[in-house]
Amino acid sequence: MGQNLVFVPECHSTNSLAQELLQKEMAHEGTLVITAKQTQGRGQRGNQWESEPNQNLTFSIVLAPTFLTAAAQFHLTQVASLAVADVLALVQPGTVTIKWPNDVMINGKKVCGILIENSISKNHIAHSIVGIGLNVNQQTFSVATATSLALELKRTHALPELLNQLMEKLEARYLQLRSSNVSTLNDAYLNLLHWRNEVHRFEADGGPLVGTITGIDATGKLVVEHSTGTRAFDLKEIKFIE
Ligand code: BTN
Repeated sequence: MGQNLVFVPECHSTNSLAQELLQKEMAHEGTLVITAKQTQGRGQRGNQWESEPNQNLTFSIVLAPTFLTAAAQFHLTQVASLAVADVLALVQPGTVTIKWPNDVMINGKKVCGILIENSISKNHIAHSIVGIGLNVNQQTFSVATATSLALELKRTHALPELLNQLMEKLEARYLQLRSSNVSTLNDAYLNLLHWRNEVHRFEADGGPLVGTITGIDATGKLVVEHSTGTRAFDLKEIKFIE
């Protein structure tokens, strides 16, 4: 991963640029598209991803996981979020958790967002663009729920070194998936799952819900136990209330 590297000082979104390169056949499995400044960084649920230029890592990796069926795409979420968590464990920034589906948290605050965009062909994943925004040296955020490595660790980090570590961990986790080692991925993911086995407040069906995350189902939905039963939710169906 990252052997074929495309660096641009500025772009709209590395996910969009990676998509354009794929269409022009200028990207292939392992291609890394990285920028110092995103002008239209994209987040989940149509949100924007804000990141101060030159302070953080904003990049996308192109994968061709043709061995994976569309129904199994959640494993890519696991691969990406675990790879980030693996790197954070190396720099020891306190408690690292993964807030379903793929926000990586330090001490309960979001330090990394991941946007995975898949193209499906004949019920398999032809290409996947894994976009990662890791807050590294940024000192201030407009929302109280966001943080950076520097804020949590009280020291700055060299971006190239972290990027190298991320490439190594992404490759290792991806190889686990490719060799069908999904139980290792499932176990590691569950171990780090934010709020697991704790009672918390959520919003579902337009109203409040108090429940306990007990796990993830086979399709990657969040399983929550509540007063009247157990239900699996997809991303659009549930919101965490801090
Ligand atoms: C989220 O938590 O909402 C996902 C944020 C993903 C941000 C990254 S930054 C690099 C890549 N390019 C984008 O436009 N988005 C992702």
